[in-house]
Amino acid sequence: MTSSPLYRSPVARYLWRPSGTCLVLLSVLILTACGGGSQTTAPVASTPSTVTLSAAALLGQKIFSDTSLSASGQMACATCHNPANAHAQSNNLAVQLGGIDQQLPGTRATPSLRYLNLLPAFFFAGDGTPTAGFNRDGSATTLAEQARVPLLAAHEMANISNADLTARLARTAYVEEFRRVFGSDILAAPEQTVDRIGFALQQYQKEDREFFPFDAKYDLFLAGKVTLENAELRGLALFNNPAKGNCAACHTSARGADGSSPLFTDFSYDNLGVPRNPAIPANTDPAYFDLGLCGPIRTDLSHRADLCGAFKVPTLRNVATRKVFFHNGRFTNLRDVLGFYVRRDTNPEEWYPRAADGSIDKFDDLPAIYKKNVNLSEVPYNRLPGMAPALSAAEIEDVITFLGTLNDGYQITN
Ligand code: HEC
Ligand code: HEC
Repeated sequence: MTSSPLYRSPVARYLWRPSGTCLVLLSVLILTACGGGSQTTAPVASTPSTVTLSAAALLGQKIFSDTSLSASGQMACATCHNPANAHAQSNNLAVQLGGIDQQLPGTRATPSLRYLNLLPAFFFAGDGTPTAGFNRDGSATTLAEQARVPLLAAHEMANISNADLTARLARTAYVEEFRRVFGSDILAAPEQTVDRIGFALQQYQKEDREFFPFDAKYDLFLAGKVTLENAELRGLALFNNPAKGNCAACHTSARGADGSSPLFTDFSYDNLGVPRNPAIPANTDPAYFDLGLCGPIRTDLSHRADLCGAFKVPTLRNVATRKVFFHNGRFTNLRDVLGFYVRRDTNPEEWYPRAADGSIDKFDDLPAIYKKNVNLSEVPYNRLPGMAPALSAAEIEDVITFLGTLNDGYQITN
């Protein structure tokens, strides 16, 4: 499981990319062949363009930005998942501060909430590949279940109990609407009330196209409505090329045969050996490690030593708008992320600190016993010191330029 062709499950791929013929993209030419021709008129997204939100989703929309549901009175889902920032954080802190006095730090960087609407619960594919689920460790099975976590977490919205949250809901302007939709005596049962709050937030995220607009420049390119600039095309070819970036091996870039748009993730898990981030307060304890699938937040896989250090592959849609990157927010710009990908093994001294004996403490955010779990076999990691990186500095610029075509809300200007 540790060396990761196994992580690239054909089953997982099948889920997201039904077209077997386009799974491996050798060049932009093949991509055009897959996405073009008779498919150019296929719908870019699988949902209709005008959607009326259900009553539950309309409530979810109100709850999503209601700071009165937090203990501090200052925090809502939208505080960390800012709609103006692709539903991700809008500051460049590695971890957000929350809780009753807005001073308690979390332990992970805030992901975007875009393009999660069809994601199933975590599962092991037929070949054992961990796949899907919500949160960076797949710990929540549905969007509804996930929503309860920040509402009740001491370092986030900090309600101390279901009753506490229900009392806050009772004081909102939309409580009558909540009763109308979920039952006139619903608030008498706090457990059910919080369950319905989670459901409302789920329906909002699943129904409102703001969460999955599929209107990036790249979507318009796949639909044959715009062309890409030369640097964007070069970047796309490097992104897809298995001998260069090989990014599409995990960050799916091709449409499915049914015309479904690529999500730039296969929702599998991998261990990249991202350097430790000293900006996370929990990391001041040298014995603390965030090991993703195997804990400490998620506990049901703590016996799976082979999964320690694996985190979910995130979508790269809107990645150019992100303020911090990777689960621990270790990097603050794409140039460093790409540099890390291709020079992690050729130039480890650029990324990792030195140990007491002067040696480079490679993979310093993993306990020694789990360092062997880091993916060393797949391009672009398969290098040794002294070898040339998989991408040159100029090629990195092209890939970054291409990633800019994945931002939602592209406007055709000419
Ligand atoms: C204090 C900042 C903060 C607040 C407030 C917050 N979140 Fe999050 N959210 C995060 C972080 C950090 C993660 C990653 C957690 C993890 O991986 O364990 C996350 C993860 C998620 C995910 C999973 C995304 C994925 O890629 O699987 C969803 C969905 C989500 N949040 C929805 C919400 C909703 C709905 C609310 C309001 C009830 C909310 N969040 C409030 C910071 C926040
Ligand atoms: C073997 C699978 C794999 C390959 C190949 C791969 N990635 Fe990733 N990528 C991941 C995983 C897993 C993460 C999340 C790691 C974490 O949070 O610790 C990630 C995270 C990222 C992020 C950070 C996104 C965010 O929201 O923080 C960027 C940017 C990125 N990858 C770009 C690329 C590019 C560009 C390439 C090609 C050069 C590439 N990746 C190749 C698995 C892969």
